[in-house]
Amino acid sequence: MYKSLVRPLFFSMQPETAHDVMRTLSRCANLSAVSTMLRRCNVVNDPRLAVTVAGLSFPNPIGLAAGLDKNAELLGLWSGLGFGHIELGTVTAQAQPGNPKPRIFRYAGDVALINRMGFPSEGADEVAIRLAEMRGRLKTLPPIGINIGKSKVTDIDRAIDDYLYSFKTLSPLADYVTVNVSSPNTPGLRQLQERERLSALLGALQEANKDRKPLFVKVAPDLSFSAIEELIECCEVTGIAGLIATNTTISRDGLSVETDEAGGLSGGPLREKALEVVTFIGSRLKGPMALIGVGGISNYTHVLDMLAAGASAVQLYTALIYEGPAVARAILRGLTRFMDDNNCASLTEATNIWKNRL
Ligand SMILES: Cc1cc2nc3c(=O)[nH]c(=O)nc-3n(C[C@H](O)[C@H](O)[C@H](O)COP(=O)(O)O)c2cc1C
Repeated sequence: MYKSLVRPLFFSMQPETAHDVMRTLSRCANLSAVSTMLRRCNVVNDPRLAVTVAGLSFPNPIGLAAGLDKNAELLGLWSGLGFGHIELGTVTAQAQPGNPKPRIFRYAGDVALINRMGFPSEGADEVAIRLAEMRGRLKTLPPIGINIGKSKVTDIDRAIDDYLYSFKTLSPLADYVTVNVSSPNTPGLRQLQERERLSALLGALQEANKDRKPLFVKVAPDLSFSAIEELIECCEVTGIAGLIATNTTISRDGLSVETDEAGGLSGGPLREKALEVVTFIGSRLKGPMALIGVGGISNYTHVLDMLAAGASAVQLYTALIYEGPAVARAILRGLTRFMDDNNCASLTEATNIWKNRL
């Protein structure tokens, strides 16, 4: 029904208008009873799907990627749609409007999006108030991550204080915090992935991290492998709990049409590159650091590819736009069918069988 009825209607609107309509309609899912009813329809309850990521128990490996719920407005919906974790944000310390619209573009032939949102955010204080209220009301929520980024007005040399403000305001409400240094749409942000700046930023956040909340770093797919190697070393030294790979790409490889829209590309064309980066990171991680794979995932084989490459969970965004609200359930059903067909008692067993087939 989504593809034949709802999607054509949404796709007749500007991408962000469709998003706003969806957001307004979905607010009722924040009523505890509605979220519970949605969960009854969507949640795939199978203990074989459970994974542990950086010490956190996720009921299943499919998470909502950052960017779709920047201001923590739709927790009841994401929980009701069966996601195993929810990453909110990116939230910035100061409220900011983001880039001028239009700033999201669809490439339906490639199941892709280009966005240059530029972190529109209500700001850390507002988001903290809403999230506290929602957490009090919605009792059945999966683990929640909060992705934080630099406010646009803050100079790159003052970035640490900016991140620290968001971290101190939001981390008490989060199960984990993601440090976003990889969005292509905030000028200078990705310089924070360089060794010296990153060490200083992560060191300061860990210093402030009195509750020892797991800290993740989100990685761009456009870094060279040697730059990723340096980033991993820096994360290991500062005790980072995990990496999330990858953010959107500035490359246009895999896109079948010419476009000069600026921004980050996600969806189908990103998948191969994201998997390459996850494979590289997976092969380099020695210690306890966890890895979450993201980029172009839309079916269970893509999930198994990421798990086989070393990820312990995955996230998605673009597939939700193209496949609709049942996407997490459909992928999880695909995984449980694969496990049934191959007599697997766990996702680890399924991943090993998948690896042997590659
Ligand atoms: C419209 C849009 C907005 C996004 N905003 C954010 C963001 O605020 N913070 C972030 O870390 N990633 C953001 N992302 C990146 C996604 O979290 C994800 O890393 C990327 O889209 C690749 O996954 P996908 O191919 O499943 O979409 C955004 C992606 C899209 C399409």
